[in-house]
Amino acid sequence: MQNSYYADLPVLVTGGLGFLGSNLILELVKLGARVTVLDAMLPLYGGNFFNLEPVKNQVKVVLGDIRDGEKVKSCLKGQKLVFHIAGQTSHVDSMTDPLLDIDINCRGNMIFFLACLEECPDARIVYAGTRGQYGKLKYTPVDEEHPMDPSDIYGINKMAGEKYFLLLGQKRGMAVTSLRINNTYGPRHQMKHGKYGILNWFVRLAMDGQALPVFGEGSQLRDYNYIDDVTAAFLLAGEREEAIGEVFNLGCGEPVTFRRMVEMIVAQAGSGTINTVPWPEERKQIEVGDYVADFSKIERLLGWRPQASLTQGLDKTIAYYRQYKEHYWAG
Ligand SMILES: NC(=O)c1ccc[n+]([C@@H]2O[C@H](COP(=O)([O-])OP(=O)(O)OC[C@H]3O[C@@H](n4cnc5c(N)ncnc54)[C@H](O)[C@@H]3O)[C@@H](O)[C@H]2O)c1
Repeated sequence: MQNSYYADLPVLVTGGLGFLGSNLILELVKLGARVTVLDAMLPLYGGNFFNLEPVKNQVKVVLGDIRDGEKVKSCLKGQKLVFHIAGQTSHVDSMTDPLLDIDINCRGNMIFFLACLEECPDARIVYAGTRGQYGKLKYTPVDEEHPMDPSDIYGINKMAGEKYFLLLGQKRGMAVTSLRINNTYGPRHQMKHGKYGILNWFVRLAMDGQALPVFGEGSQLRDYNYIDDVTAAFLLAGEREEAIGEVFNLGCGEPVTFRRMVEMIVAQAGSGTINTVPWPEERKQIEVGDYVADFSKIERLLGWRPQASLTQGLDKTIAYYRQYKEHYWAG
């Protein structure tokens, strides 16, 4: 399946061995793009060579860190589009090791952006932002005008990264877009620990027949996106003129309580149990309450709408990990 915009387009994907990046790359390759991947394979995160197994002979993989300016520059030469997805991804770790989060999500982002200005000023950049940038909510559904008041270091630094890109992009004439991504689940997520990507982790616990912990009543609303819908949003953000200079929320239109999500996983996996436990202190500190996204802006400007229901997404997710478990379970 070729697409005239992506066919033969030189594209760099940072963090491309991880969850969001690898799923995007599989589609980019189908569309005919010439893909380079930059990933540091840092052990805490979701980098996994198996994620790119189906296209391993069709993409160029460079092992390197976004904080290494020279390596970054060598990857950026000649690129027309950059999906900048690499980052420190754990809310919890950002509180226990804030300096690492600053180093990757602030310093690393600045090194990366300055290199973009030098090597490919005409390229478009799509930044992976997060709903965590909003923090404690003043109203819901959350639109893009909602104040950003992050409740953890990760949210603060992801917000700073977005602002660096948008500000410098505007001042230096680069075409930048940010997607404020929601909780996303599906194939190719790391399944080694539950520090981030909790729905994916719970799929593992259920498949292993273990107890899935629900903190308190589990009544907080969540808005989960299936990975294919997030990939579709990246592709539109990288292609459409209307996306330039904009930030967009993603959402699913089918919010559920945390407890309901857990019940669905246990039912669809056919194993696992639910264990109600008190809120651990480190989670209570960073919990933001109900989160429901207003994604009408991306729907209006780019025509994006989530397609997968939670039931459909969970079915595909469980089927994938049943088939490829040995590539994801090992620590
Ligand atoms: N998955 C979600 O639900 C979600 C939600 C909101 C935002 N995001 C953002 O999307 C991005 C990717 O998330 P993911 O779920 O794919 O995570 P992931 O851990 O699966 O992938 C991240 C990838 O980035 C790489 N990486 C990390 N630091 C790097 C560095 N300094 N240099 C080069 N590579 C580095 C890792 O090796 C990994 O392969 C993150 O920036 C995260 O903040 C994700």
